[in-house]
Formats: sequence, structure tokens, C-alpha cells
Amino acid sequence: MDRVGIIGYGHMGSMLVNGFLSSGVLGIDEIMVASKRQESMDACAAAWPGIGIARTNRELARQCRLIIIAVRPQETRGVLNEIASVMDGDEHVVSLAAGISLEDLEGLFSGSVTRVVPTATSAVGQGTTLVCHGRQVGMLDALRAEGLFSSIGNVALVDEVNLPAATLLSSCGPGLLAAIIEELAGATARASGLEAGRALVLTTEMAAATAAYLRETGKTPGDLVEEVATGGGVTEAGVQRLRERLPGVFDGTVAAMLERYGTVGK
Ligand SMILES: NC(=O)c1ccc[n+]([C@@H]2O[C@H](COP(=O)([O-])OP(=O)(O)OC[C@H]3O[C@@H](n4cnc5c(N)ncnc54)[C@H](OP(=O)(O)O)[C@@H]3O)[C@@H](O)[C@H]2O)c1
Repeated sequence: MDRVGIIGYGHMGSMLVNGFLSSGVLGIDEIMVASKRQESMDACAAAWPGIGIARTNRELARQCRLIIIAVRPQETRGVLNEIASVMDGDEHVVSLAAGISLEDLEGLFSGSVTRVVPTATSAVGQGTTLVCHGRQVGMLDALRAEGLFSSIGNVALVDEVNLPAATLLSSCGPGLLAAIIEELAGATARASGLEAGRALVLTTEMAAATAAYLRETGKTPGDLVEEVATGGGVTEAGVQRLRERLPGVFDGTVAAMLERYGTVGK
């Protein structure tokens, strides 16, 4: 049977299994999972009774044509080396590993390869999964992979050269925004005596509503700032202060992240 195989049942692997099965894009008999530790495989079997669990990565690779490798970047080469000998070259491998290029992956295995970058927010069907197909990926395989990932949110096709920057926004971005939400709520609570938990709830709701407003109206962030920050008002005082300091903070943040991206998986 032509099943979709997922190697690695960690944060991303379990999120993909949950997303593909909950959305109905795959049935329970269309998916197979392998992971390193027995505890992870037991957790998967308990969460999804009847799911196919492979005892080894090779057993999974023998039974699946589309194989998603959801292990850490430093483990990805080892897993591909391990399964390459049982594959016949007709498989489509989807790698989640940051920092391992299509060229590197194609050098380890003779089939077709796609790089995919999901995001933690895919767990609630939101956010964008980045997809970058290798040269050898046929149209049907490309569409099949894109269809799978569109069941857990948006899909954006990205050239490999733009993958680091796009990853920083769509995949690392939720971590950055979460840190900003935490800081804004914390500073407000410290300065005012507003209870910290209450401040966090208000800030989280505000962030979600702001994104929804921008998305639904098509307005730019600049338009919204102009609407909210009336002359001489409270928002204007805050926006002015942020605009003095944030460009430097964010230039440094992005530079540090891109530098780190260049070392991942090496
Ligand atoms: N987390 C994110 O937001 C995010 C976003 C986009 C892309 N990614 C990418 O997704 C990949 C997975 O990240 P993650 O956050 O899910 O990592 P994780 O939670 O550490 O999960 C990795 C899983 O790989 C399994 N594993 C390790 N070696 C293995 C082997 N030889 N054979 C089979 N399974 C093996 C581990 O299994 P056991 O539990 O059985 O030990 C673990 O559950 C990474 O390449 C990362 O760059 C992550």
C-alpha cells in the first residue's frame, strides 16, 4: 500500500500526524510512523489507535513512497543514509531539516526531494508551511505534498535561496511574536499593577485581533498605526518610542538569526 511515512514523532512529527488525520486528508490506514524511542511510538499508537507503527526506519521506507523526515537537522543525514539502501529511487522524500540543502539531500538518495518548513501554529490550522521542491520532483508528487500540507494551514512555494529569510518569518516568527507579547504584557503589569495573567490574556487577544484586522481589511501596518495613533495621544507616544529603538533591535535580531541559520545542520 502507498502510505505516507513520517520518521520522527517529536513536536513536528506528532503535529503532522494529528493534522493530517484530524483534517481527514489521510485515513488511519494511509499513514505510518517510525521514531527512535519505544515511548514515542507507544504515545503515537495510544493517540491514534490502529495507526501503522514501523519497528525501524527501514521498515517504514520499504512501505511508503512519500517519506517525511521529521528528525532534527543533525540527525537527518543519518536517517537518510540508513533508509537509502532499501529505497528504489521512486520515493519522494520530504525533509523538514533547516540548513540541509536540496543538493545535499539529493546527494544522499537517488529519488526526488522536497524541503518543507512547517510552523508550530499549524497545530491549530494557522500559519504558512514553506515548500521548496527539488528539480526531480514530478508534478503529481509536488501536488500531493502540497495538498497534504495545505490541510494544516497555508502553503507557500519558496525558492531555496529565500528559504532562510522566509523561515525566520513564518516558522521562527511565532516564537518572536510570543516573546514580544510576553514583554508587552509584562511591562504593562509592572508599570500599572494590572494582574500579570490578565495583562497576558489582553495582550494575546489584541495580537490575534490585530493580525485578523490587517488580513481582513488588507490595510498595511502603517495604515493601522495612523488610525490608532491620533496626534498627541497615548498610542502616538508609544509608537514614537518604538520607532526610535525597534529598527536597531530588529536589524540585530534578524542578523543573529540568519547567522545561526547558516550553522544549523552542519
Ligand atoms: N519545532 C518547530 O517549530 C519546527 C518548525 C519547522 C521545522 N522544524 C524542523 O522539524 C524537524 C523536527 O523538529 P522537532 O521540533 O519536531 O524536533 P523534536 O521534537 O526533537 O523531534 C525529533 C524527533 O526525531 C526522532 N528521532 C531522532 N533520531 C531518530 C532516528 N534516528 N530515527 C527515528 N526518529 C528519530 C526523535 O524520536 P524519539 O522521540 O523517539 O527519541 C524525536 O521525537 C527539525 O528538522 C526542525 O528543524 C521544526
